[in-house]
Amino acid sequence: MKRIITYGTFDVLHYGHIRLLKRARDLGDYLIVACSSDEFNETKNKKSFYTYEQRKMILESVRYVDLVIPEYSWEQKIADMEKYFVDVFVMGDDWEGKFDFLKNYCEVIYLPRTPDVCSTNTKQHLTLNKR
Ligand code: CTP
Repeated sequence: MKRIITYGTFDVLHYGHIRLLKRARDLGDYLIVACSSDEFNETKNKKSFYTYEQRKMILESVRYVDLVIPEYSWEQKIADMEKYFVDVFVMGDDWEGKFDFLKNYCEVIYLPRTPDVCSTNTKQHLTLNKR
């Protein structure tokens, strides 16, 4: 059983997220998504449209996702790798190099980000009622 983990806010889930989750799951057999809690987002000056519980429920409905856990801090990653017996850590390549310290614990892979879509822009476009 090869276990993959990825982290993120995943607000107003979009096809860039789905492409990331599909490719992450294809790297192994079991995908864990650590979804940023509302409190953690506050520390990043981010405010999501959906609450943590709503984002968790949406992620749990995605066929590529096996388990959703909360992300409370930047520092929890090493403990997560050990607790969940993670083999591969995956992030989009907007994070390239940022988590290389995890190579002591598991494989680290940065996947190409899907162009032209992000939660922030989607929310702005919806507010302005145009694509
Ligand atoms: N991601 C991706 N392609 C996109 C958007 C996001 O591959 N177009 C990936 C990110 O690289 C990350 C994960 O999806 O690994 C979760 O990213 P998140 O920050 O929640 O998504 P964004 O849409 O970038 O959100 P925001 O606009 O709030 O930064």
